[in-house]
Parts: sequence; structure tokens; C-alpha cells
Amino acid sequence: MTLLKTFRLPYLFFGLGLLFTAGCGPLFDIRKAMYDQPKYEPLEATDFFGDRRSARPLVAGTVAQGHLQLDDHLYLGIEEEDGNYRQAQTYPFEITAEDLDRGQEMYNIHCSVCHGKSGHGNGMVVQRGYKTAPSYHRDALRKAPPGYFYAVILNGFNEMQPYAHQVPVEDRWRIVAYIKTLQRSQFAQEEDLETIQQFMDQVPPTPSSEHSATEHTNEH
Ligand code: HEC
Repeated sequence: MTLLKTFRLPYLFFGLGLLFTAGCGPLFDIRKAMYDQPKYEPLEATDFFGDRRSARPLVAGTVAQGHLQLDDHLYLGIEEEDGNYRQAQTYPFEITAEDLDRGQEMYNIHCSVCHGKSGHGNGMVVQRGYKTAPSYHRDALRKAPPGYFYAVILNGFNEMQPYAHQVPVEDRWRIVAYIKTLQRSQFAQEEDLETIQQFMDQVPPTPSSEHSATEHTNEH
């Protein structure tokens, strides 16, 4: 008994040792194999390609799904005439009263801070010292076609940064249409006044004007 007892402890250590090498050894190997499976890590070099880059550039002309932009008029603001491209003279879709409302909203958000709400170029940022934005009511800009304004929003203009990232494609055209309306507002012709009068006749009185009318009669 005493002999067995003295041998027990070494047996135990021996057994445990076997367990670790036989049991955990292969297990560890499997996990390592998954960890080290053949793959390239970001920016890792390779000998397979001549330029040694494992991350391959997109094949030229690749277009992500939903990003195919074939319509030059809509996306670039240009149109073809006799094989030549020029700035679009028209809008790529019909501009409705809702489009103008949206254009006004977008203009006031993105452009009026510099160009001013009426387009004279004296927005708040300019009043605080930024380079003066040109007035939209100068002759050259009054004559400029919609495609010209679209191009400025898309590409920027000298010191003005592009607004393509902030303003989606259709909204850019709505802003252009609104700028054209601003321009017209400063050079109204007599027939415009008639149109405005017709428009005003159709507009139902707003609740606030009704209210002030009753207030007015109450005073008497
Ligand atoms: C941060 C101020 C700022 C904002 C915001 C801004 N602009 Fe401008 N814009 C300028 C300045 C300054 C110029 C003149 C740039 C120059 O000549 O260096 C300019 C020039 C222009 C021109 C060209 C005028 C010409 O002489 O041909 C157009 C068109 C125009 N802006 C439209 C827009 C529209 C549309 C928006 C809104 C989407 C907008 N801008 C937003 C400051 C601004």
C-alpha cells in the first residue's frame, strides 16, 4: 500500500501531462488553422500581382448597383446639339409649383447664407466677412441657362465649393428653377403683374388675414 501511495503522485502528473499534449494539442491546432487560413489582410503585399497589391482596384468602368447615370441632361446639366455638348437650356423634368416650393426651401438652406434670400449676394456669411457672392441679377447670370447654374452646384465656382454632396440631383434642378424665379422677380414685366394678379385672385384668404380683418371691424 505504502509503495503504491508513493507512486501515485508521479502517475497523476504523468497522466495530466499526457492529457495536455494529446488532448489540447490538436484542438489548439484546429483553432490556429482557422485563424491562419490563407487570406490577405487589409493592405497586405502579395507576390502574385506585378504591383504587389493584394487589394485589387476596380475594373475600369465598374458601376455600383443603382449608380448608373446615363442621362447627361439630368446628371451633368449638358445636352447634345449637332454632335456638340452645351449647357442645358431646359430642365430635365417639368417644374411644378411643388418643385419651386422645394427649390425655395433648398435654396434658403444651402445658398441663401451667402447669396441672400433674394439673390443679391449679401447673405449673412458675406455680412460676416466671407467673399461677396455675385448677384444673380447681373445681366450675365440672368442670361445664363439652367445648365450653367446646375454646373456651379455640381462643380463649384472659383472660391465657392461644390454642393453636389449636400444637394441630391433633382433638388439641384429645383434650386436652379427657384433662382430663375428670383431673377424674374427683380425684372418683372407688365404681363407678369397680370399673371400675379390672376394668381392672387385664386388664392383663398389665409386664416391670419381673416383674423386681422375681423379685428379691424371690431375696432370700429
Ligand atoms: C459659403 C458661401 C456660398 C454658398 C453657401 C453658396 N455660394 Fe455660390 N458663390 C459664392 C461665392 C463667393 C461666389 C463667387 C466665387 C468666386 O468668384 O470666387 C459664388 C458663385 C456662384 C455662382 C456663379 C456666379 C458667376 O459669376 O458665374 C453661382 C451660379 C452660384 N454661386 C450659385 C450657388 C448656389 C445655387 C448655391 C446653393 C446650392 C450657392 N451658390 C451656395 C458663395 C457661396
